[in-house]
Amino acid sequence: MTAKLITTPIYYVNDKPHIGHAYTTIASDALARFWKAQGHDVVFATGTDEHGSKVQKSALNAGVEPLEYADTISQHFRQLVGRVDASPDDFIRTTEPRHAAVVVELWNRLVERGFIYHGNYGGWYSLRDECFYTELETELRDGVRYATLTGTEVQWVEEDSYFFKLQSLQEKLLEFYDANPSFIQPSTRRNEVVSFVKSGLVDLSVSRNTVSWGIPVPGDDKHTIYVWIDALANYITVAGGLDKWNEVDAIHIVGKDILRFHAVYWVAILIAAGLKVPSQIFAHGWWTASGNKIGKSAGNAINVEALIDSYGIDAVRYYLLRAIPFGSDGDFVEHDLIHTYNTELANGIGNLLNRTVTLVHKNIGDRVPEQISVDVDVLKIVGDHVRKAHEYFSNLRFRDGLDELRIAVDFTGKYFTAKAPWSKDCLDIPVVLFTTLSAIHHIAANGLSCISPSGVERINAQTRLYPNAVIPTPTAAFPRIVT
Ligand code: MSP
Repeated sequence: MTAKLITTPIYYVNDKPHIGHAYTTIASDALARFWKAQGHDVVFATGTDEHGSKVQKSALNAGVEPLEYADTISQHFRQLVGRVDASPDDFIRTTEPRHAAVVVELWNRLVERGFIYHGNYGGWYSLRDECFYTELETELRDGVRYATLTGTEVQWVEEDSYFFKLQSLQEKLLEFYDANPSFIQPSTRRNEVVSFVKSGLVDLSVSRNTVSWGIPVPGDDKHTIYVWIDALANYITVAGGLDKWNEVDAIHIVGKDILRFHAVYWVAILIAAGLKVPSQIFAHGWWTASGNKIGKSAGNAINVEALIDSYGIDAVRYYLLRAIPFGSDGDFVEHDLIHTYNTELANGIGNLLNRTVTLVHKNIGDRVPEQISVDVDVLKIVGDHVRKAHEYFSNLRFRDGLDELRIAVDFTGKYFTAKAPWSKDCLDIPVVLFTTLSAIHHIAANGLSCISPSGVERINAQTRLYPNAVIPTPTAAFPRIVT
């Protein structure tokens, strides 16, 4: 089985982490955990994007050297990984020597294959997006020019530059999208990319002679390699180099704002270098606050650490993946986070577990008997829902997958209520209790664990069902948020 390489974008170190970054990391982590639990060989990687004019400028403003600046902010992102319960196998920084070696090798490969040439360039440059736009891709408002796609300010920049022969790959790209219809997800995004490529590509400027903070162009150190090529190549670095890259199935999870870099430029570079193309690129939507994209520059960043301090990581992870379909935009509403968590986790699976464990203690004791019987028909139905959830998760449909799990919990809860194991009239109390515990265990350990790993650990500790296993006194797996 080919190993899967699941990646987040690497985050710019000019911005402290906020909910948007946490979202990409949490979703990628959930997918990686899901595939690992299915027995797949998975490398899950995240990290920081540390070169380029934006970081250089931020460091200058802060009065420190770029590397010192990058060290500090990269550390914030590394801490965020732990705080959001993500468990990456690698955390890459583009300032690491292992990465520079890969970028240089990739560059040389492109030169050898005739895809890079030297020329002069003039274009509308956006510092925020670290990319050039053509005039048609910009608009003038009140005397200021903006990139239409991202709304960021652009300035006219002219310099001599190395170019990547993107235009020559237009047909190859279109053939590739055609032959791989599920490569770009969701499919609406695919159509956008295909029309962009069809509308005509121009060669890409891939070096800057005005930015010193970067990896020098081999043989011409007046230039640094364009930060996006540097950044995209991180995926090869975490795979272990160009040869190892060819052995993995890469799945890139990115925000919709950077889809073009991945689905067009990255794919073109890989085709040009004769390297394997990723198996999928999934573009998720934006979290907004009252309709505006959340971000530091917009001044509406939501502090994810504070949210975790107030509500716990399970609530944050669950809400982000449950509230909106992965791929769509959604407004972040704190009250909804509390409501979703309380209704579906605290009062749902958490409460059912609590009631069941309490009754086990009352009727059976604190150890699992030598022999237990369960109602197989109930567990079969629960198993069907968990299987459906797996199908959704494998297609990054987290919201639908979680809905299946919620249905499975509701079904188990109805069975429990109908059998009323607290009443003397219930004739098969142990069967009902162990069936309910088995169902909860299955839903949690095989379904919910990739989304809410901490809470599921607490469930697992109370649902060990082998003979003589201790059943601890009930503890809330998902404590209710009281406001
Ligand atoms: N450094 C580049 C990526 C290079 S990958 C080879 C970059 N960094 S970023 O820090 O600006 O953004 C990283 C990711 O965070 C993007 O996928 C972006 O969409 C995501 N988010 C930032 N704000 C967001 C929201 N408000 N909502 C959801 N995700 C958004 O781009």
